[in-house]
Amino acid sequence: MKVTIVGAGNVGATCADVISYRGIASEVVLLDIKEGFAEGKAMDIMQCATTTGFNTRVSGSTNDYSKTANSDVVVITSGIPRKPGMTREELIGINAGIVKAVAENVLQHSPNAIIVVVSNPMDTMTYLTLKATGIPKNRIIGMGGALDSSRFKYYLSKALDKPSNDVQGMVIGGHGDTTMIPLTRLASYNGSPVSDFLSQEQLEKVAADTMVGGATLTGLLGTSAWYAPGASVAYLVDSILNDQKKIIACSVYLEGEYGQSDICIGVPCIIGKNGIEKIVDIKLNDAEKVLFTKSADAVRSMNADLKSVLV
Ligand code: LAC
Repeated sequence: MKVTIVGAGNVGATCADVISYRGIASEVVLLDIKEGFAEGKAMDIMQCATTTGFNTRVSGSTNDYSKTANSDVVVITSGIPRKPGMTREELIGINAGIVKAVAENVLQHSPNAIIVVVSNPMDTMTYLTLKATGIPKNRIIGMGGALDSSRFKYYLSKALDKPSNDVQGMVIGGHGDTTMIPLTRLASYNGSPVSDFLSQEQLEKVAADTMVGGATLTGLLGTSAWYAPGASVAYLVDSILNDQKKIIACSVYLEGEYGQSDICIGVPCIIGKNGIEKIVDIKLNDAEKVLFTKSADAVRSMNADLKSVLV
């Protein structure tokens, strides 16, 4: 099983690192436009093989897409990350051209690959990839919900003062500070609703912290986060390559599901060897439906900015 990761920056390299030490794929190719950079990251990761004990072959390439040939999954992290004070949406102009060119290049060498889009603004970049390439919608997956859900479970576990792994929860909607929807009503701790343990006020704080989870880290780090984003991509890739059929919130093209069409936005999906195997229709209450519609409206208005790139 071969995975290509385009963009050997912090997120791409962390993803390669997690994929290799967890043995998720037999081969990982890191590709970057910066001369020698992907080769260096790959070599550094490979020098961990004997100490952390993995067998994945990780290699790097400076923009030579022939090295990515016959990948099962291609992860696109290319583009610029946000700086403190910037929204993900502000990256659209720069990143759209980059993501479109990368998607076209990778498909020339791996026409059957499943593409995982990480570049921001992620929902819009996922939509762009789908529209620009025309490949079936099950093969284009936006990674945002896995990350946002992991942050949600982190904040829930802190409020509960219990281990994260005992907490279940999901974030749907757009991958934006004001568009994500942490589903506190459905979150649970060891099978019981979290509302049995946390007050409404505490739950609202968890949701608010989750929504600005990425921005908080950007403020602290001076650039966008990478450990949780990279690990979240690896988690998604694991479910694809190993056909785990996990339910993961992903940005996917909707054609009537959740009352929306012609948009990529986060909803729960079954993820397996065919990519998006199924969109899961969870029953939202009226308040959640209103939030979802508002989120979709915001994502759709960003997609309108793609017009010049999509001609
Ligand atoms: C974040 C970026 C990767 O949420 O979107 O950290």
